[in-house]
Amino acid sequence: MTPGVSTYRLALVGFGSVGRGLAEILSLHHRRFVDRYGADIRIVAACTRRWCVYDPNGIDAAALLRAASPDAIRALPGACAWKTDQMIASVDADVLVEASPTDMTTGEPATTYVRSAIGRGMHVITANKGPIALHFAELRRLAEERGVMLGFEATVMAGTPALRLGWSDLAGCDIQEVRGIVNGTTNFILTRMERGMDYASALAEAQRLGYAEADPTSDVEGHDAACKAAILANVLMDARLTPADVEREGITGITREMVAAAAATGERWKLIARVWRDGSTTRAAVRPMRLMVEHPLAGIDGATNALTLSTDLLGNVTIIGPGAGGVATGFAILSDLLALHRVRRTENQEPRTEN
Ligand SMILES: NC(=O)c1ccc[n+]([C@@H]2O[C@H](COP(=O)([O-])OP(=O)(O)OC[C@H]3O[C@@H](n4cnc5c(N)ncnc54)[C@H](OP(=O)(O)O)[C@@H]3O)[C@@H](O)[C@H]2O)c1
Repeated sequence: MTPGVSTYRLALVGFGSVGRGLAEILSLHHRRFVDRYGADIRIVAACTRRWCVYDPNGIDAAALLRAASPDAIRALPGACAWKTDQMIASVDADVLVEASPTDMTTGEPATTYVRSAIGRGMHVITANKGPIALHFAELRRLAEERGVMLGFEATVMAGTPALRLGWSDLAGCDIQEVRGIVNGTTNFILTRMERGMDYASALAEAQRLGYAEADPTSDVEGHDAACKAAILANVLMDARLTPADVEREGITGITREMVAAAAATGERWKLIARVWRDGSTTRAAVRPMRLMVEHPLAGIDGATNALTLSTDLLGNVTIIGPGAGGVATGFAILSDLLALHRVRRTENQEPRTEN
């Protein structure tokens, strides 16, 4: 190890859009993180349902990205027969990066992966909403007991630092309400409907452009936004909500005529996720709302996301930015890694090279 440089060996679960986005960032900018921050971040293992690669000295991220098929990956140096749970039980790594598909009902198998990695003393960074929406309090306690970090910035608004803004930068404030557009697919569809498209055509365009899944239910019925509302409630307002506790209505009932009627009175339809205090309890809801065009969230177009945090000491703070995408979400994982690095530097009282 170079003096003054700390190495972070990553084990990746999932190598889809997010896993690849992180690998792309590391393959292009690895040197920047070493020179600027003293952080040597390298992937030592990557595992999907179909393949696993492990090299304790570091995998060539560019070669992994170039390999066009599972067969090509299985021909790479370090390819092995581990399943994901075996990889987590055996790998010599510092950080587990969980980027397998979200299950909003059980949080599995990701939650088991996260528990296992924490149990082995690994830091965990998850892009997967399931473990944080359903088991945040338990996982945070486990991580604290083992003295490891649990990173989850990617789970809401991808790399746009909405969660960190709330729990870190606004620490000291009481966050009394959170309101936002946290699903880019539905915002894209509503924006297109304002240009005269009907719902079905706008959805078809979102699917053609890759904003919507072939099965759009999770987005258009508000499940994805409800999952994020539960995360916002639990992380920022110390609640114990699950996605099932979030009152939910999607955008499938919004017609072109409703959009035009709103526009005629200077309003826009937006799918709003809202978390608020109701006496001693915290409530959350996702529903389409008509906002006056002057409202800070009304001007958010296309797939962009935005969140307004209402605080006692600072009033309203609004953050706007990308809410999805491989590199944008890979960046969230990077930001958690660099946050871990800052903490470790401070603990070791090493000279700080970053601001
Ligand atoms: N994409 C975004 O913009 C975004 C933004 C924020 C958060 N997220 C979250 O990040 C996670 C990853 O999203 P994504 O877009 O990268 O998904 P994706 O493109 O569908 O990729 C999922 C990856 O996970 C692998 N996988 C599935 N089951 C697995 C298992 N049991 N063990 C190991 N690997 C497994 C898949 O491999 P196989 O091909 O072998 O199944 C695939 O490589 C999801 O939880 C998502 O909700 C995504």
